[in-house]
Amino acid sequence: MTSPRALWVLLLMAVAAGALAAPVKPRQAAIASAHVLATEAGFEVLGKGGNAFDAAVAVAATLAVVEPQSSGIGGGGLFLLQRASDGHEVMVDARETAPAAVDMRDYLGADGKPDRARSINGPLSAGIPGEPAGLVWIAQRYGKLPLKVSLAPAIRIARNGFKPDGRFLKEVAMRKEVIARYPASAALYLVNGEAPKPGWTFRTPDLARVLERIAEQGNAGFYQGDLARTLVEGVRAAGGNWTLADLERYEAKERAPIAFDYRGWRIVTASPPSSGGVALAEMLNVLGGYELDRLDKVHRTHLMVEAMRRAYRDRAEYLGDPDFVPMPIARLTSADYAAGLRAGIHPDKATPSELLPPYLAGEQGSHTSHFSIIDRDGNLAAGTQTVNLIFGSGLVVAGTGFVLNDEMDDFALVAGKPNAFGLLGNERNAPRPGSRPLSSMSPTFVIGPDRIGVIGTPGGSRIITMVLEGILAFIDGQPPAQLVANARFHHQYLPDVITAEKGAFSAAETKALEAMGHQVHESDRRWGFMNVVSWDRRSGKLQAAADPRGESGSGVVR
Ligand code: DON
Repeated sequence: MTSPRALWVLLLMAVAAGALAAPVKPRQAAIASAHVLATEAGFEVLGKGGNAFDAAVAVAATLAVVEPQSSGIGGGGLFLLQRASDGHEVMVDARETAPAAVDMRDYLGADGKPDRARSINGPLSAGIPGEPAGLVWIAQRYGKLPLKVSLAPAIRIARNGFKPDGRFLKEVAMRKEVIARYPASAALYLVNGEAPKPGWTFRTPDLARVLERIAEQGNAGFYQGDLARTLVEGVRAAGGNWTLADLERYEAKERAPIAFDYRGWRIVTASPPSSGGVALAEMLNVLGGYELDRLDKVHRTHLMVEAMRRAYRDRAEYLGDPDFVPMPIARLTSADYAAGLRAGIHPDKATPSELLPPYLAGEQGSHTSHFSIIDRDGNLAAGTQTVNLIFGSGLVVAGTGFVLNDEMDDFALVAGKPNAFGLLGNERNAPRPGSRPLSSMSPTFVIGPDRIGVIGTPGGSRIITMVLEGILAFIDGQPPAQLVANARFHHQYLPDVITAEKGAFSAAETKALEAMGHQVHESDRRWGFMNVVSWDRRSGKLQAAADPRGESGSGVVR
């Protein structure tokens, strides 16, 4: 028979277990985004009773208004969500799709050679936008508030206007020549044909109306009816090939994220059509076999570069749109595969990329935008959204108020020829009617026993290596403000070179890496715009930090 004392012990154990199981909640919320107005929009919507997912909609839509060079309603995004009440995790895939009439020959010049201009400028460079469907999906399935409330800050700012920062004005100047080709683009972003001067107020009432239609009608407000007709007519008049059916058929998709363990930390990140999660799993599985924290910086860098080289090789070889091509994801992300890769890594000699199995071939910066959110209930949201290059295709269809993306360049339009980010691909990432181009966007959760980080960044092909470095820095205990500021380095298989920001390596470290056979190229530009929030469950402390490389970035805990 159980003694009364044993019963007491059992009772106490049950109470203790209950206390442990009781969800701990943050006492505040944290948002980090590329623009202070977007961060504030998120808090405005939280203040109206919204959760992190409503805030994500508000932040994403406001970024579409205040940072149109980076992302917008004419683009797409990948949104990673974790619901606190039941732990449900999902990636909302709002990536653009190829129109049904896509034809790879359209991206060749008269001489039959690939013509980059066609895949990065103007109507043929634009995929069918996914952003509107993504916002509608998140609001309707995960939010608590109607779209009218979560889109209200974006609509207000689009209508009333705001004064853009220096980065916006500089990036208009960089894309001026293409913007000037299209009258509605020039009317929206230029003043008398020139990039606007500081102090200029940017208003986009047409975009306010588009957002209102989405708020009222959901997907139908964008993908059907008058606006769809206006878009299709405008794109076709400019020489593109969109049809009403392309818009009508578009749908956001829910996908299971890539999730894996790295030394006791759970990493949850983007699945295909992003290459980010597969590459991160591959790199961290390889690195998990080393005692990285016991190594000097040179050897640690060497191993990270060797992992990067192999993951980017596999990116080029294997990855594409999961709805169209089979991919060996389970193999690439397995521990056995990583062990095999590790066996091929020399402890202090670079493997020339050309010695890896050849993949069968058939400008970087801060455009694209990442935001990170934790709310008071512990819900997590990480969104990376984009129009691809600065101001996307440069094409604004009259009456719409937003620029269309140039995401078609993320396809491998010509097998074996690098895209604008120098990334290679083969027929797995070839455009097919309705297919999604392979992305590097990697919104990520880093979940440890006591600390949680929400992390991501723009930066084209460099996104994945920045996120890798961010994850390792977070696990090492660096606070968000430090890890977003760290100097970065990158290797993407081909070209076979480590690109590094100034300050990433000392002269001696560079020399030591070169002695191992690495080529190190110090870039004169900085890259990325990493926005991170974190929550320490033991101390209850929340932190938020925006990358100091971005002028108006904002990380706030409130
Ligand atoms: O989806 C992708 O990987 C690219 N379209 C992202 C572009 C980007 O990050 C541009 N920023 N520098």
